[in-house]
Amino acid sequence: MDCKELKNIWDERYAVVPQQLEKLKTINSVATAFNTNIDAIYKISGEQLKKIITENGFTLSDIENISLSGFREPRDVVLGIAKCFCRGIAEEWVTEDISVYNWLNDKIGYQRLQMGGQGGIIANALALLQIGQVVAHTNSHPKLQAEQFLDLDNLLSFDENGKLAKSVNIARNNDIPLIHWIIEFDKNDTFTLEGKTFTCPKSNRFIATYDPLNMNLVMNEDFISYLSTPNNVEYLLLSGFNPLLESNNGIALVDNAAKILEKWKTANKDMIVHLEIASTQDKAVRKAIAQKLAPLSHSVGLNERETIDLLEIMDKNDLAQVIEKDTSACNLFDAVLYLIKELRCQRIQLHMFGLYLTIQNKDFRYSAEQNLKGMVTASVVSSSKAYNGEITEYEHLTKALGMSASDIGLNELKALADKLSKPELLEKGICEVDGYTVSAIPTILVDKPKTLVGMGDTISSVSLLAGL
Ligand code: GLC
Repeated sequence: MDCKELKNIWDERYAVVPQQLEKLKTINSVATAFNTNIDAIYKISGEQLKKIITENGFTLSDIENISLSGFREPRDVVLGIAKCFCRGIAEEWVTEDISVYNWLNDKIGYQRLQMGGQGGIIANALALLQIGQVVAHTNSHPKLQAEQFLDLDNLLSFDENGKLAKSVNIARNNDIPLIHWIIEFDKNDTFTLEGKTFTCPKSNRFIATYDPLNMNLVMNEDFISYLSTPNNVEYLLLSGFNPLLESNNGIALVDNAAKILEKWKTANKDMIVHLEIASTQDKAVRKAIAQKLAPLSHSVGLNERETIDLLEIMDKNDLAQVIEKDTSACNLFDAVLYLIKELRCQRIQLHMFGLYLTIQNKDFRYSAEQNLKGMVTASVVSSSKAYNGEITEYEHLTKALGMSASDIGLNELKALADKLSKPELLEKGICEVDGYTVSAIPTILVDKPKTLVGMGDTISSVSLLAGL
């Protein structure tokens, strides 16, 4: 089959998206927890990066092969940006040192503020998609945080009196704003230092986080009570464990969250729990998330990097290295199959560049066919978000309707179908392996994305919810 025929077949699969978008509106109640914060966005150019490198006294030898992955002092922000820029990777460094925050405020500043944290980002997107009611957990909700919520009647949080109220109107004025710096850079941008030129291989970002509440997984008691009683919440979208550190009580905090989650599940028996792994630097915390929270979740979402990270803490270094060298769908498939067996959850979804892949138990609540519909919907919504940057109108999330799946994705899917000797995977997007159902789609890719932050979270939640 030639490429054009294949594209046509996938255009047809994507044709279900308008219908799935309508079905999303029939979902009555969703909750998101735990992390909601404010993102301060700063787009840095290669030239600006070079300027702060020299201003802060770093030399070529400091910039080549940076191995640091956390702050020793505020000016290490520069090393974090340079590391991510030169490798085209995403990292988030967290700190309890307020001097890092002050340095960022004084020396970098920001171009705009927007909603941050997986919980907050998903809440905005799902409310815009007209889910009946979205309740977002906020451990801090001053006016500045409220302003990052969309002005929508179906988007709620708990106010200072412990009552559910429109998130945008809440002002818990004793709370401190939790601002994370998101420093974005573009593919192919360059800077030259002492005669050596560095070129950024992939648009990405470095995140510098000073956030004493989310680092301590501070929870809002009203939200805890809300889910501890039967409330017909259909889906809980869970994340926010990524800033925890072992040295900061992180393991006990995960244990405590697991106990709360069990209580919530007992109270809301039909609720589907999705856990977004998110990039977690601390290995002991990462292990605790995998061992204690994943088995309690029906569904787990991750990207390529997070897959490698999980393999590393599960003594699968060989496979981790193979994927590190060649981050292909074929290699990642082996990892996801391994993970679903080890983590004992019912469904795992990988979102990688150009392709989404779900492996799930045969008796999962939604069939592979339904899941496929969810994934194509997520592809449209997330690429629309990337294309548009800001999302404030329903149309912003549906702009990519009618766009075709990318060649990159089709090639990845073809290679995977060949590897598995499952030709049906290429055309139908579904096959069976080791008693599990596998579904995969080539995604739409946007040429010049205006934003990438929060993409994974949006993909995971929309593909789960739109699979109904
Ligand atoms: C992390 C960051 C947050 C950002 C989010 C995007 O949680 O702390 O600032 O918005 O990732 O996924």
